[in-house]
Amino acid sequence: MTAESLVQTTFIIAALLFILALAGLSRHESARMGNLAGMVGMTLAGVATVGYALTHSQRGIPLTLVLLVVPLLIGSAIGLWLALRVQMTGMPQLIAMLHSFVGLAAVLVGFSSFLDTAASTGGSETAHLVEVGVGVLIGAYTFTGSVVAYGKLSGRLAGRPLMLPGRTWLNLGAFLASVAAIVWLVMAPHGQGLWPLGLVTLLGFALGWHMVSSIGGGDMPVVVSMLNSWSGWAAAAAGFMLGNDLLIVTGALVGSSGAILSYLMCKAMNRSFISVILGGFGEGATVSGVDRDYGEHREVSASEVAALLRDAQSVVITPGYGMAVAQAQYPVAELTRQLRARGIKVRFGIHPVAGRLPGHMNVLLAEAKVPYDIVLEMDEINDDFSDTDVVLVIGANDTVNPAALDEPDSPIAGMPVLEVWKAETVVVFKRSMNAGYAGVQNPLFFRENTVMLFGDAKDRVTDITAAL
Ligand code: TAP
Repeated sequence: MTAESLVQTTFIIAALLFILALAGLSRHESARMGNLAGMVGMTLAGVATVGYALTHSQRGIPLTLVLLVVPLLIGSAIGLWLALRVQMTGMPQLIAMLHSFVGLAAVLVGFSSFLDTAASTGGSETAHLVEVGVGVLIGAYTFTGSVVAYGKLSGRLAGRPLMLPGRTWLNLGAFLASVAAIVWLVMAPHGQGLWPLGLVTLLGFALGWHMVSSIGGGDMPVVVSMLNSWSGWAAAAAGFMLGNDLLIVTGALVGSSGAILSYLMCKAMNRSFISVILGGFGEGATVSGVDRDYGEHREVSASEVAALLRDAQSVVITPGYGMAVAQAQYPVAELTRQLRARGIKVRFGIHPVAGRLPGHMNVLLAEAKVPYDIVLEMDEINDDFSDTDVVLVIGANDTVNPAALDEPDSPIAGMPVLEVWKAETVVVFKRSMNAGYAGVQNPLFFRENTVMLFGDAKDRVTDITAAL
């Protein structure tokens, strides 16, 4: 076997492992295997890339090794440092930032590929220039879009959507201008396309910045998965420019799985995929309900909640972002064990956008060894609330807000929610009467069958278990 075919075979094995990883990650039970397959695939891809660079080296092996290994070590050190430091609650902004790097890399690969035609696929000049133009456009869009998403998710930029007049026309105009600039790039005399390429880059930057700025805070989950998808397409475009099959396959896998995830999230939030992509969803729906008078709320103590649970036959727990902040999953799992040992039926209801990451709650509950078969999706549990004695809303807010169904002027109007208020008693665990992520007041807290248990969720759940 020649070195070249060994490299290509390793690329194919790595691509297969990435497909296995995606398949594994789609179910709790196989998620560990999926992660392992992804890690082995990535290691093989790294080794094969070094092999590929060495077999195609035009600068001599020592220099090629230095050019590869030094950035690899620097990047790995920064990645390791960030991964060790980041809190689970800071993951979405870290992911947004990582997407921006993929976008920027695609832009840089585009410029270097343009300047150094030797790095191109060897196809016809026209095809190569189209690859460069499209790759740079997608990369530039992904870069600024991800930087804005990072700013919004980390609270450095306002979460409100930017509502420029005629924004859809602005987007359309910028897109058509980008197509025209790519045509200019292709038509320009050999090697003289830097101006149109620069224009494509600027238009991509502007489009990414404007489109993500136009999306409201509540729709950010969709944006993060959409940018994930775009970062995949940017990587695939870089693969075309470099003639690297593995990058094309991997980019296409990330791009298409991100697109499917974005679609599923739009469906879960009852949003139109197209309107979220075009930005500005929720225009006119700006009444947050914070100033509205919903009446008085009632407080309870942990021992009163313990008494309620002792008399219950059926309990549903709906966790949200606050459970992640409090790291309350272990006490919640212990409370679940104790209630089940008393013969009480306990189940979990998970909203598709609970927390700050797709599957956030499922990961936390799996970590605390809550059995998978009692963790149900929103659609599976929503009809059962009317037969439930007690619902424990642990650090969830937007995902259990009846305003989404009752108040058409609410920014979250139309989003399906966990209909917890249909149960006999609802206990809400939170630290204050503050609004959730979307900044919307929650009328659930003022309903007659709702009681509030204030304090850190971990402490309160531990108190209840002690009082049982
Ligand atoms: P949120 O609406 O974010 O509410 C979380 C609640 O937890 C807050 O009201 C907060 O109230 C409470 N909390 C925070 N720390 C706590 C602690 N230590 N102990 C007890 N309570 C605590 O949560 P949700 O229902 O999970 O909804 C998720 C929201 O995030 C949605 O709007 C969704 O669109 C958005 N989002 C989701 C994602 C993904 S992919 N899942 C990504 C980005 C954004 P206090 O401050 O009063 O304690």
